[in-house]
Amino acid sequence: MCGIIARVGGDDDGAVDELLTGLENLEYRGYDSAGLAIKNGGGPEVFKREGKISRLKDVLADETPDGGLGIGHTRWSTHGPPTDANAHPHTDCTGDVAVVHNGIVENYDELKTDLADRGHEFESDTDTEVIPHLVKEQLADGVDPETAFRRTIEKLSGSYAVAMITDREHAVYATRRGSPLVLGVDDGDYFLASDVPAFLDFTDDVVYLDDGDVVVVEPDDYRITTPDGEAVDRSVQTVEWDPEDAGKGGYDHYMLKEIHEQPAALRQTLRGRADPATGDIRLEDFPAGSFAGVDRVQFVACGTSYHAGLVGAQFLSDGGVPARAFLASEYATAQPPVDERTLVVGVTQSGETADTLSALRRANASGAATLAVTNVVGSTAARECDDALFIRAGPEIGVAATKTFSSQVVSLALLGERIVRDVTGTRSENARERLDALSNLPGHVQQILDYTSARRVAERYRDSEAYFFIGRGAVRPVAREGALKFKEISYEHAEGFAAGELKHGPLALVTPDTPVFAVFTGRNDEKTLGNVKEAEARGAPVVAVASRDQEAATQYADEVLTVPDTHPDVAGVLANVQLQLLSYHAADLLDRAIDKPRNLAKSVTVE
Ligand code: AGP
Repeated sequence: MCGIIARVGGDDDGAVDELLTGLENLEYRGYDSAGLAIKNGGGPEVFKREGKISRLKDVLADETPDGGLGIGHTRWSTHGPPTDANAHPHTDCTGDVAVVHNGIVENYDELKTDLADRGHEFESDTDTEVIPHLVKEQLADGVDPETAFRRTIEKLSGSYAVAMITDREHAVYATRRGSPLVLGVDDGDYFLASDVPAFLDFTDDVVYLDDGDVVVVEPDDYRITTPDGEAVDRSVQTVEWDPEDAGKGGYDHYMLKEIHEQPAALRQTLRGRADPATGDIRLEDFPAGSFAGVDRVQFVACGTSYHAGLVGAQFLSDGGVPARAFLASEYATAQPPVDERTLVVGVTQSGETADTLSALRRANASGAATLAVTNVVGSTAARECDDALFIRAGPEIGVAATKTFSSQVVSLALLGERIVRDVTGTRSENARERLDALSNLPGHVQQILDYTSARRVAERYRDSEAYFFIGRGAVRPVAREGALKFKEISYEHAEGFAAGELKHGPLALVTPDTPVFAVFTGRNDEKTLGNVKEAEARGAPVVAVASRDQEAATQYADEVLTVPDTHPDVAGVLANVQLQLLSYHAADLLDRAIDKPRNLAKSVTVE
């Protein structure tokens, strides 16, 4: 997730050092390039580098610019790979306007084409670069920077936070819509940032900006107005955060923070890609017909990503397209049939997992088309595959994959629908209802975060011998994922099964000391209920993960982790959020190293 920092001081020369501190404080959000622009008497001077902030520091060590006012940015690539040119700040053709931006300008393509027609030249692949060019056009028409900024913002659609400096007044202009932006108030100095920790070394007095607020910050004053220019009053609050903890945004662990980021991550994943009203799917590089030549689809992935791949394969099979998910580490030796009409989809958060890369290379060598579904623009998988679809979950730092699973499943649902339409010539049954359920996911996940009883349930069963997770059909992968997460961070024995398989072996392990977590979706619930009764008859406590509407399921359970009612194909994402929280709290009660579990790594780059 990108990070913005701005520092507004007078004629002192402190801006560079304080901006660099701010950038380092934003590192926890994840980034692949960094940059800053300083207003040094005249126009903005820009310094930016792909890679670590230390690379930017090396450049600045050679030529530190003077100046008390500037903007800085850490970039997490979404449009274009991590390069010096794609790093922020971006400027117009003359270099008079410099801009940093978080979020996505959805209509940048059309704005860029119009600007190019009017003679503007672009240096990057980013959506951001249209902003300084639009501002410059307004300035050239003779308006002041604040008006130019407002008029430009009016033309943007999407979600964003933007900060700008120009060669004119000694001021920073900023606004937010859907992306966070906070103002830090110090003694005569001001800061703007995506997150409080960025400037916590300098001040703990904060003004939280609302969507639509436009703020103009000058060395001795700031003004906040609505988009129409009406003044608004926002109070200054003092935050009581220890800078040490603040990198986790106030949460005890990155994992918990990332679980809580899911509504925002899902909004980002879905943005501009699906229209439930018309049933249309718009996947950037994959217009209708992109997959017309595909006969079958194979997913290759590991761990949590494999569970998302299982869900993806199910979407396709249900829509009439032959599909199967393979563990990437097995794929090379399994030798499944592959030809040029086979699409092999590598599902990988990091895009760097060695087993998955090796399976994709094997598929490629056999003539299949390859597609990476990944979170990391510029990753090896994204570069080596024929195509890439980005899940846009934002950086994930905790070793346990949480928000990326949710964003993978949603991305695979959209991709699956595109493929079904291209291959079969028709929409899959219930496409509208499913899209509707997908678009409601961010709100539904928020409801779970607001009312979950996962900690109490974790506490009640904390001394158990083992933990079993069962689910049928669309949520069989969720049962497996629930168990993987549980064992990964709590170090307790946990297994996930197809509900119907319980009686074919695992039931021998079921006792009063082994709680069974049963996931219900509203489809074939009576069968899963039968399996629950088998466990209950052996004295096992049962926890249903179900909506209130699934009365039969909840009636038999000792505990219920409630999820909002939704389409059965989508219910698994919600159930999984409850199971993520359960694992988190179980591990927290046992005082485990949640963000860095023993023996595990975030990215496994060996086969
Ligand atoms: C999940 O919590 C794990 N840490 C792990 O299973 C992970 O999903 C797997 O290693 C695959 O990683 P990738 O998505 O980056 O390829």
